[in-house]
Amino acid sequence: MPAIVHSLAELQGIRETWRIAGESVALVPTMGSLHDGHKALALEATSHADRCVLSIFVNPLQFGAGEDFEEYPRSLLADEAFLADTLVDLIFAPSVDVMYPEGADSAPSVSAGPLGDTFEGASRPGHFDGVLTVVKRLFDYVSPDMAVFGCKDAQQLFLVRQMVEDHHLTLPILEVETVRDSSGLALSSRNAQLSEIARTQAREIPRALDEASRQLTALDARDCARDILASAPGVSVDYVEVVNPDTFLPLHKDAHAGDARLIVAVTLGGVRLIDNRLLHFGQ
Ligand code: PAF
Repeated sequence: MPAIVHSLAELQGIRETWRIAGESVALVPTMGSLHDGHKALALEATSHADRCVLSIFVNPLQFGAGEDFEEYPRSLLADEAFLADTLVDLIFAPSVDVMYPEGADSAPSVSAGPLGDTFEGASRPGHFDGVLTVVKRLFDYVSPDMAVFGCKDAQQLFLVRQMVEDHHLTLPILEVETVRDSSGLALSSRNAQLSEIARTQAREIPRALDEASRQLTALDARDCARDILASAPGVSVDYVEVVNPDTFLPLHKDAHAGDARLIVAVTLGGVRLIDNRLLHFGQ
């Protein structure tokens, strides 16, 4: 069972013993309510580093007004038990006061730049500034040698890499493929909020990604996924787009050759779900 610490002093005391022992440390940032997707992140971390810190913090700065900050599932003891069969050494579970001693609203914000206002950021203004602010602070608190993020949050992963570059941090970012349930639905802590019927309807998301991946051009793939999701019962589409994985900007040319990432966001039974698929065209 990993140990749980709540204070910065405890975290940094343990971190210092690892530093003295010459042990490398990987950080897995999470908001808890852990599932097998998080376990895959932990496995990646523990296979690359001597020590693994998994943080659990539901970050108020990345939730907008009217979003599900209060309702977001919190289950620290279950999360600790869930990690019992992993090699995670330490859970860092700070309070808001520990994470933001100056007050969450007064914490200097890390800007996600213009890309932070697109896709997820267009629907959730300020979301990515909040994500980068807490991720940067976790990097500062834990001083990891590497950090691990999932591909399901593709835009988040892109922006974290961009921040690491902008801030000249020498911190490798390891990425882990999305873990899916037997129906193909991407695992997400928010899936717990889906009714039985919404969970069945959500299968249209992986089906749209599968069908799209059989198309011959990037724009056909986008249109195919759009058509499937637009006519899927119970699904309200926010966006379906193909982006250049190197810039996260939408592709406009059907003649695109190389990698393209198809990204989707929908709401189903009041629950916002995102997913994506890396596609390859031409050449
Ligand atoms: O992906 C998440 O769970 C969160 O956005 C993160 C990276 C832990 C920051 O709060």
